[in-house]
Order: sequence, then structure tokens, then C-alpha cells
Amino acid sequence: MSADPSVLRGNSARAGQVRPFQVMAILAEAQALQAAGRDIIHLEVGEPDFPTPEPMIDAAVAAMRAGKTGYTPALGLPQLRRKLADYYRQRFAVDISPQRFVLAPGASGALLLLSAARLDIGQKLLLADPGYPCNRNFARVFEAHGQLVPCGADKRYQLTPADIQTHWTESTKAALVASPANPTGTVLSPDELSALAQAVKAQQGELWVDEIYQGLNYTGAAQTVLSVDDDAVVLNSFSKFFGMTGWRLGWAVVPESWVPALDTLAQNLFLAPPTPAQYAALAAFEPETMAILEQRRQELARRRDYLLQALPPLGFEIPVAPDGAFYIYADASRFTDDSLSFCSRVLQETGVAITPGVDFGDYQAGTHVRFAFTTGLERLQEAVARLQQWLGK
Ligand SMILES: Cc1ncc(COP(=O)(O)O)c(C=O)c1O
Repeated sequence: MSADPSVLRGNSARAGQVRPFQVMAILAEAQALQAAGRDIIHLEVGEPDFPTPEPMIDAAVAAMRAGKTGYTPALGLPQLRRKLADYYRQRFAVDISPQRFVLAPGASGALLLLSAARLDIGQKLLLADPGYPCNRNFARVFEAHGQLVPCGADKRYQLTPADIQTHWTESTKAALVASPANPTGTVLSPDELSALAQAVKAQQGELWVDEIYQGLNYTGAAQTVLSVDDDAVVLNSFSKFFGMTGWRLGWAVVPESWVPALDTLAQNLFLAPPTPAQYAALAAFEPETMAILEQRRQELARRRDYLLQALPPLGFEIPVAPDGAFYIYADASRFTDDSLSFCSRVLQETGVAITPGVDFGDYQAGTHVRFAFTTGLERLQEAVARLQQWLGK
């Protein structure tokens, strides 16, 4: 009999092997402190503090008032798939057939479909450590295996072609990279993406690229892997750049021959992506919405610039500045090799909530922490002042 306590309770072994976020413990602590009247500054939250832009809300409300509340096709509204294809043409100069866009409940839903469609039992998915922790668990629930490859600051926390060569085995199916990445915000350049694509092709494998933070770029223009490799698979979402986390809408771009399998799986697993969210998304690419999103990007850039200059004097080294997303991954080795208890003490003693590196993998996880700049500049300044006082700087 397995010693896994969840199995003993009758849960599957896989349920017992999916780790909860450690930051949830920090969040629960933060909520308890807040309920007791403490002022907590939230730098742990992985979603923008801006609501969905008005034109998108208006579009969803109008659609619902017009009675558009039923299921859509499993792959999403054809007009939204066409709009996405137009967006890729206009913004990234790539010509992708609307048929290759698969809408799903978030990038999470898209990865669920992709994992169901492509991963067999025992196959491996190569991933960077540190990385967004949920991705490896999608492999796990399909009895495949997310293989973490240590990626330090010297590699800008990203998989390299050499990693592909070293770690690829007979059972490896694909490599999944993220650009911009969570928790580090690093971006893969078109040349780097192209080199990765070639390395993966040399192994007859697949390159999956999580582009969910696309558009939240601070050091260069937004990119897509599709401009350098038409065979790559893209995961993306309306959650972050478009400010729609709670609406649950994302998409994948896949080779056309995979679409029927994804369609069948989508019909079975969730019937269709959420209808109001899709009508809201139809207004995402209007100039009015884009102007709002650009202002928000500029606001995030100001916050990033502020933290980049304010954190190092406190002792939080930033080995690699983020090019995108809304995170700074800082080296806190001066203070700790146990990032979870460090974050807990920081919260208890300063009221500033940050995320421990242990949530993103194993490699150097005890000495790193993530700061999310998803709160306004004044609150960031207050957080820095509190940390400064606490650290006696
Ligand atoms: C790197 C990365 N990929 C995917 C997701 C999932 O996003 P969603 O399902 O909201 O589209 C997240 C959410 O934080 C993320 O950080």
C-alpha cells in the first residue's frame, strides 16, 4: 500500500503528487494579519491590479443582453479566431490560418488540451527550473513527467539548445519554455527561439512556447516564436496583458493537423470556452482598448524601473533584470537559504508579502524570492521603506 496520505484517503496518487503553492500559506497568513487590522502590501499577486478595459466589459454586457449566453463552438467563436489571426498578422507580421487558433478556458485550459492531445504515459516534457509551477503538473495528470532543468542567471533562467541536447532522451516529447517568463521576466530573443527550435527539431521533438505575458515587454517589442518557427506551438491568454484573469480565456496556436484532436478533446472536457469572455475579447484589439493597454504597460514599466533601482541597495541582488511580465526575481542569499521562512518573517514583521523561490522549482529556490509589481508605485515605495527599516539599511 502506498504511504501517500492522499491515497490513504482514497484520492488518486496523482492528486497527492501535485504540490500546493507555498505562497498560499503566505497568503493565508497575510489575510489573517489583514483581518486583525494590519496593513499588508501585496507583492505576491500574479495578476494585474487593473480591471478589464471598459470597451471589453461593454462588449460582453451587450452580447449577454442580446441573448448570446449559450455555448459557442468548442474551438471558440470563428470571428474571434479570425481576429486573433488578424492581430498576429498586424502586430507580428506572421500569417497564421484562423483554423490553427484553439480558444480554451485560459492558457491553463489550452495546456490541458495540449497535454491531453500530445503526451503519452511516461513521456517527458523539458522545463526550466525556476518556472511557473503548474506547467509540470499538467504533464503529471496525464501520467507524463515534467523534467526540470536547472537554469541559473548565467542562462537568464531559460533553457538553451545545449540543455536540449544534454537532457533529451528517447521518452522526451517536447520542451516548454516561457517568454516572457514567470518568475524571472526574461525574454527569449528571436535568435534564441530559432536556435531552440532547431535543437528540438534535431531530436524530432516539439517546442511549446508559453507567451502568456506577451505584450508586457519593457526592453523591446513583443515577439512570437511563430515569426521564427511556423511549427512551434504557442500558448497564450487574455489573462495578463489584456487584464482578464477572472474571465478564463486563452488560446493555443497549433499545427493544423492537430486541430481535430484538440476539437474532440475540448468538446469532451469543457464543451466550449466561456461565451461572455469571448465576446469581451472581440473588443480586445480595437484601437481604444489597445490605447488603454499601452498606458498600463507604461505604468508597469515605471514600477519595474523603480524596483530595479530600489531593491539592490537593500541587499536583494537582481542578477538579471526582467524584460517583460511583472516580476523581479531577486537573489536574497545575503539573508537566507530558506526562502519560505524568510518570506513568512518578512510578512509578519513588515506586512510586505512576497513569494518564496521554492514555489518555482528546486534550483537555488531557497535563496531567491519573487517581487510582483502588481501594485501602485506609492505602495511599492512604502514596501521598500518598510524593508529598508527592517533590514536596518
Ligand atoms: C507562465 C504562466 N503560464 C500560464 C499561466 C496561466 O494563466 P491563465 O490560465 O490565466 O491563462 C500563468 C498564470 O499565472 C503563468 O504565469
